[in-house]
Amino acid sequence: MGNSVEPDAFGRAVYDHYRGEQAGPLWQCDGPDRREHPIEAFYFEPYDPKSHCGSWIDSQLSGPLIDIGAGAGRDTLYFQEQFETVAIDASPALVQTMDDRGVEDARVGDMFGLRSEFDRDRFAAALVYGTQLGLAGSIAGIRSFLCDLAYVTEPGATAVVDGYDPTAIESGDRLGYRRDPTPGLAHRVMWFEYDGEVDPVLQFRLFSPGRLREAAIGTGWELADVTRREPGAAHYLAALRLR
Ligand SMILES: C[S@@+](CC[C@H](N)C(=O)[O-])C[C@H]1O[C@@H](n2cnc3c(N)ncnc32)[C@H](O)[C@@H]1O
Repeated sequence: MGNSVEPDAFGRAVYDHYRGEQAGPLWQCDGPDRREHPIEAFYFEPYDPKSHCGSWIDSQLSGPLIDIGAGAGRDTLYFQEQFETVAIDASPALVQTMDDRGVEDARVGDMFGLRSEFDRDRFAAALVYGTQLGLAGSIAGIRSFLCDLAYVTEPGATAVVDGYDPTAIESGDRLGYRRDPTPGLAHRVMWFEYDGEVDPVLQFRLFSPGRLREAAIGTGWELADVTRREPGAAHYLAALRLR
């Protein structure tokens, strides 16, 4: 962790929060617009299998599962009680957090390097929760990610991903939101600051379920189901099935 040369303000803040040593707010920033990140509510509330989204995700996944961009391990801690679950995250501080919290198999890994990190057909399911799929940057990037994900998952596998649907976002709703004239697409640009450290700018492509369906064409994945916390909500969950 301390050996990391890359800035890791986000991961450090979450780890410090976990240890009760948070040095100040974790800021989500877009120029002068900044909001304090609610770390506890976002990452440390336990997975709730009785909630609408929790029971929906539960009904989609099986093992072995890969939790991609697993954060502080909230979902892995739940699913590893049911079947083998491997958690990867780009942040060494978050992998340390997961280790400390009892995640059995937490690894530093790049969601855009799955082919070199895992064997073919290694997993029966994948969870990509937290809108990090948008870091693929473009529809072509999402397509490339899905092709790599198809390599490390077996035929019939399920992938659950989430996103913000631009067709349901009111302007100004989200920090860093940038509209796009193309229907069903938008961007989000933001970065994290914590305790004097500034992370690189994160550039998310936002895509509607319809755009995700298009992105999946030719990857082996098909959009099988979509749900939202409540009707009309911008945040949605999608299940993809591998042929
Ligand atoms: C919004 S958080 C979601 C964390 C967790 N899935 C949850 O829902 O609590 C997004 C996570 O993706 C991770 N991440 C971002 N880019 C990544 C990459 N290229 N490879 C692996 N993880 C990445 C971040 O470090 C962060 O922990």
